[in-house]
Amino acid sequence: MDTVSRHYDQLLARHYTWMLGGDLTALVAEQTRLLRDLGVEPRGPGETAVDLGCGPGNQTLALAALGYGTVFAVDTSKALLDELASHAEGNQAIRPVHADIRGVLPAIAEPASAAAIVCMGDTLTHLPRKADVTALLADCAAALAQDGRLVVTYRDLTRPLHGADRFVPVRSTPDQVLTCFLEYVDEETVMVHDVLHRRSGATWTQQVGSYPKLRIGADWLAGQCAAAGLTLERDETGPRGMRLLAAVKKGRPPIATDAGRRR
Ligand SMILES: C[S@@+](CC[C@H](N)C(=O)[O-])C[C@H]1O[C@@H](n2cnc3c(N)ncnc32)[C@H](O)[C@@H]1O
Repeated sequence: MDTVSRHYDQLLARHYTWMLGGDLTALVAEQTRLLRDLGVEPRGPGETAVDLGCGPGNQTLALAALGYGTVFAVDTSKALLDELASHAEGNQAIRPVHADIRGVLPAIAEPASAAAIVCMGDTLTHLPRKADVTALLADCAAALAQDGRLVVTYRDLTRPLHGADRFVPVRSTPDQVLTCFLEYVDEETVMVHDVLHRRSGATWTQQVGSYPKLRIGADWLAGQCAAAGLTLERDETGPRGMRLLAAVKKGRPPIATDAGRRR
C-alpha cells in the first residue's frame, strides 16, 4: 500500500465527509450545479462518465443525477467506495472501481468512448510524480469521445507558505478539530501533515498522518492538457479556492483536399 492509500486508510477516509462539512447531499448538489455550469451533461441516453478519485461520491452522484448512463467511480480507498455505495442506494448507473487512477482508463473505457471525465477535489495532486499527471492526461484524451469534457479541480501549491501560515485550520466541531501542516519539501512536493484532535469526555487525543502532494501550477497543467490534445475552455480560480480547469476534446479538423484548397 502506498503512502497516500495508507493515510486515507488509517486517518482521512473515516473523517473525509466530515472534513468537507458533513453533508454529502449538499456537496452533491453543489457539484451538480458546477458540472452543469461547465456544460457537463449527457447529450443523449447511455453516455459514459468517469470520476477519477471519487472519494465518497461528490461528483459520482452528481454525474448520475445529471443523467449519465454509466458512471465509473474510481478510488483506492475501499472505505470511501463503501461510503459511496451506501449513498448510491443501488443506482445501477454507478460502477465502483477499486483501483489506482494511474492506468485505469484503458481498462474501463474503450478509446474515444467517455463523454465526461472528472478528477476533482484535489485528487490530481495526490499522484506521486508530475509524469503521472502527464500520463493521466494522455489517458483522458484517448478515452474521451469527440466533444467529451475533462474537468479538474485542484489546489495550486506552487507558492510556498511560511512560518505560522503553514498551519491551516481545516474544520472544527465541538468534539473534533482537524489542522493541516504543510512542509515544502522541494519544487515538486509538499508533505501534508494532517493533525486530528478528537474529544472523548474530558480527554482529547491527537492522531497525525502524513502524505505527499504534488505542486502543480496552472500554467504547467494548461500546457500538459494542450500537449495531450485537449482544448481549454476554463482555467480559473473556482469554488473553495481551488483551481478549476475544464477542457474539451475537439474533433479533428476536416482534412484539406485539393478541391478544398482550390476554392
Ligand atoms: C481529496 S479526495 C477527493 C474526493 C472527491 N473527488 C472530492 O471532491 O471530495 C482524493 C481521493 O482520491 C483518492 N486517491 C488518491 N490517490 C489515488 C490514486 N492514485 N488512485 C485512485 N484514487 C486515489 C483518495 O482515496 C481520495 O478518495
